[in-house]
Amino acid sequence: MCLTHSPSIPDNLYKYKGAKEMDFEMFKDIIKRFKAALGCCFIGNGEPLLCKDLFKMIEYAHKHKMYTQIFTNGLILDKFIDKIIHSPLNSINISVNSIEPEDFKRITGLDSSIFEKIITNAKALINARNRIGSKLGISATIITDRYNYKMIPQMTDFAQDMGLDYIGFCNILPSSAPGYSAKERCLFADDEEAYNFLKSLQVENRKIKVELPVLLDRNNSRVCRDSFISMSIDGNGDVNGCERQLLNSQGNGKYYDKDIFNNAHFCKLRSMFLNSKIPLLEPCRLCYNNSVFKIEEVNKLSLTPYKSPLLLIIFIWILYIGWTYYSRLFEIIASEILGDISRFKQVCRWIIFRF
Ligand SMILES: C[S@@+](CC[C@H](N)C(=O)[O-])C[C@H]1O[C@@H](n2cnc3c(N)ncnc32)[C@H](O)[C@@H]1O
Ligand code: SF4
Repeated sequence: MCLTHSPSIPDNLYKYKGAKEMDFEMFKDIIKRFKAALGCCFIGNGEPLLCKDLFKMIEYAHKHKMYTQIFTNGLILDKFIDKIIHSPLNSINISVNSIEPEDFKRITGLDSSIFEKIITNAKALINARNRIGSKLGISATIITDRYNYKMIPQMTDFAQDMGLDYIGFCNILPSSAPGYSAKERCLFADDEEAYNFLKSLQVENRKIKVELPVLLDRNNSRVCRDSFISMSIDGNGDVNGCERQLLNSQGNGKYYDKDIFNNAHFCKLRSMFLNSKIPLLEPCRLCYNNSVFKIEEVNKLSLTPYKSPLLLIIFIWILYIGWTYYSRLFEIIASEILGDISRFKQVCRWIIFRF
């Protein structure tokens, strides 16, 4: 399913090569080295709940005043409900990936019987959280493609009825493998039917917070900012500046190398997103995290002039456009003069732990 490391995807330049499980000593060392980080996310090449030291890590990061978040497939969630709701974990995302067994099978390639188990587990966690009045945020994500996007209204109802706080619809990350190509599966901004359908959904007034899929841009946007703010680290200590796709991390450097967050790997990625003359990496060309077509933003821009006093809105709008324009202009001028703005040192704000 995760197209850069799934066994069903043939080996390629970007395919993740695997790593051992991260141990607690390495985790503590990482937290001590990146004290300025605001949070850490435990997400997988596999499943974070299988990591034996996970709850010790959450406690430790919390003691260092970091926000903590887990992404889980929900399959063994029932065994950890008590631990989760009594831990300082801030939020948990359950990758439910669908609202019905057959579509779950189609999307994940897993047995459809697993789906009911995941939903039962998610509901049990929500009930337990509500019973003790914990502040734990509980969200779910669903992989969205050309075949299921019209079910978004029903999927949103389903998530709201479950009592989730948030539902995120992620445009599918494609692969070159047959059946998984962008042409076959992804939602593009120039697909008028999909664009208009998503634009017509009134999700802002829902009780549950909804994030619609970001549509892919054929003109190659350069808006991904993962490598400017976050660093992924696996159990071998290998780092990556990409948060969303599990790209190959070998040879990018180790977390303990000198000034790792500004090394050649991170500078190369940042330059690519700031300088349109540098070709984008193949996975970045078709990644929802690198597109300007966020429907919620498009809707906000087109609706606001009708909502409150016209002049105030125009003023705010001009400020917004001005800021977007001049900050980009500054980046372009700086990259032209200095050759590479990414030489400005960045500070890691998010640590993504890969298990
Ligand atoms: C790589 S998984 C691993 C973490 C954990 N085991 C889980 O299932 O949440 C992290 C997230 O990536 C999403 N994901 C995997 N393959 C994807 C794809 N091809 N397109 C979009 N999202 C994908 C999953 O739905 C999940 O929410
Ligand atoms: S655009 Fe996508 S694949 Fe490229 S670095 Fe950003 S998140 Fe990773």
